[in-house]
Amino acid sequence: MSSSHCNAIVLFFIAFLLGGIISVSHAQLSSTFYDETCPNVTSIIRGVIDNALLSDSRIGASLLRLHFHDCFVNGCDGSILLNNSDTIDSEKEAARNNNSVRGFGVVDDIKTALESACPGIVSCADILTIAAEESVSAAGGPSWTVLLGRRDGTTANRTGADISLPSAIDTLDTLKSVFLAVGLNTTDLVSLSGAHTFGRAQCLTFSGRLYNFNNTGNPDDTLNTTYLETLQGICPQNGTGTDLTNLDLTTLDTFDNNYFSNLQLENGLLQTDQELFSTTGADTIDIVNSFSSDQSAFFASFVESMLKMGNISVLTGSEGEVRLNCGIVNTDSSGSESYLHSSIETRDDAEYKYAI
Ligand code: HEM
Ligand SMILES: *[C@@H]1O[C@H](CO)[C@@H](O)[C@H](O)[C@H]1NC(C)=O
Ligand SMILES: *[C@@H]1O[C@H](CO)[C@@H](O)[C@H](O)[C@H]1NC(C)=O
Ligand SMILES: *[C@@H]1O[C@H](CO)[C@@H](O)[C@H](O)[C@H]1NC(C)=O
Ligand SMILES: *[C@@H]1O[C@H](CO)[C@@H](O)[C@H](O)[C@H]1NC(C)=O
Ligand SMILES: *[C@@H]1O[C@H](CO)[C@@H](O)[C@H](O)[C@H]1NC(C)=O
Ligand SMILES: *[C@@H]1O[C@H](CO)[C@@H](O)[C@H](O)[C@H]1NC(C)=O
Ligand SMILES: *[C@@H]1O[C@H](CO)[C@@H](O)[C@H](O)[C@H]1NC(C)=O
Ligand SMILES: *[C@@H]1O[C@H](CO)[C@@H](O)[C@H](O)[C@H]1NC(C)=O
Ligand SMILES: *[C@@H]1O[C@H](CO)[C@@H](O)[C@H](O)[C@H]1NC(C)=O
Repeated sequence: MSSSHCNAIVLFFIAFLLGGIISVSHAQLSSTFYDETCPNVTSIIRGVIDNALLSDSRIGASLLRLHFHDCFVNGCDGSILLNNSDTIDSEKEAARNNNSVRGFGVVDDIKTALESACPGIVSCADILTIAAEESVSAAGGPSWTVLLGRRDGTTANRTGADISLPSAIDTLDTLKSVFLAVGLNTTDLVSLSGAHTFGRAQCLTFSGRLYNFNNTGNPDDTLNTTYLETLQGICPQNGTGTDLTNLDLTTLDTFDNNYFSNLQLENGLLQTDQELFSTTGADTIDIVNSFSSDQSAFFASFVESMLKMGNISVLTGSEGEVRLNCGIVNTDSSGSESYLHSSIETRDDAEYKYAI
């Protein structure tokens, strides 16, 4: 073989390899990603959720929130599931997550079931994506085709969680910019806030509205006075702040558009909920009104926004890894106990601080 032939062959292979690398780094999410490798992934996840719902009617809401808090911090990479280790400052313990986000045990149960059915295949980031969709549909909301093929990150970003997650006392302008920072617009902000149609919140996340709002000496005047009295009964002025109430006072565990009709009656629980309707002159008011009058418009918009949220900075192809245990990166060689310290799950009996 002549040397020029040889060179041509070598060049061909280099081009082939580069092409492979380029196409891998440009890999896209796809609805059929697990069709060959784990065809039952959705029904396996749904089975674990349905079982968990039997003893915890709140768990679907908690799983949806985990996906949201995952995607807003370093993208949808499963980073919120990582426990502390020698090298990881978990996102779980970031101010807006600590003693607040929950559902890790159910995610671990899902992972165990999937490792048994199709070992090493389904990423923890995709588990959160599918669990969010299945939780919404199990609660009476829309179901939709999710895109899959996310890979799991190998780091967590606690500082990122402090910066990127919204607070329940943010102004509407701040909420808009927090969402815009991850590519979500004002319509996405309103439709995704509709997730507060189910689940619970602790008193400390809205008690600033009940007695001395914004140092006025009075309650928030955009809070319905009947609802105010109910909430004052649930959250005494100098209480622990950890008592729970429903985010949607009308249909607590159902995914519907009542969240929006609540806002029209000043029955939004969080300050950030009510601001969508009660901020003078805001462009969100019309969107609230349209979702309140048309549930299918809300559902269609919610699905579109969930697909956008699920696309934020995803790792694909050979980036990251498929974690075998959602709480630890595969390469973590630190002591077996080290990642167990400061494991977090919401507890009813604890007193703690939570930064709203
Ligand atoms: C717009 C900005 C948002 C703020 C300020 C906010 C804030 C909060 C707060 C303070 C809680 C109660 C946490 C606790 O008491 O421990 C909560 C619960 C919840 N959030 Fe949001 N949230 C926002 C957007 C979203 C989005 C975009 C989603 C999902 C798409 C979502 C889903 C949920 C769910 C389902 C719950 C109930 C969780 C449970 O019961 O475990 N939230 N949120
Ligand atoms: C999400 O990303 C995929 C590629 O990974 C793309 O095909 C799709 O259009 C994106 N969807 C949205 C809603 O951004
Ligand atoms: C998928 O689940 C069905 C029952 O729901 C079962 O018959 C089938 O064997 C499962 N397939 C795989 C590949 O596990
Ligand atoms: C953590 O998140 C912040 C805020 O989004 C970002 O600026 C920073 O680059 C992230 N750090 C890492 C290591 O990903
Ligand atoms: C709280 O009070 C400050 C200063 O009085 C004011 O600028 C701000 O708009 C108030 N915030 C709300 C949500 O009413
Ligand atoms: C709550 O505590 C403050 C001081 O921390 C006190 O002034 C107020 O009277 C207390 N309120 C009730 C209802 O106990
Ligand atoms: C307060 O809420 C009740 C229903 O919970 C409703 O009938 C009433 O109209 C609301 N008030 C205002 C000012 O929206
Ligand atoms: C916001 O994003 C949605 C998709 O989630 C899109 O349909 C809509 O046109 C966008 N709105 C604006 C004002 O860009
Ligand atoms: C990670 O922490 C959770 C609680 O947040 C705990 O249930 C789980 O067992 C831990 N996982 C590992 C691998 O240590
Ligand atoms: C998270 O909450 C736990 C329990 O209240 C507390 O011990 C821990 O210090 C908190 N973590 C951080 C980083 O504040």
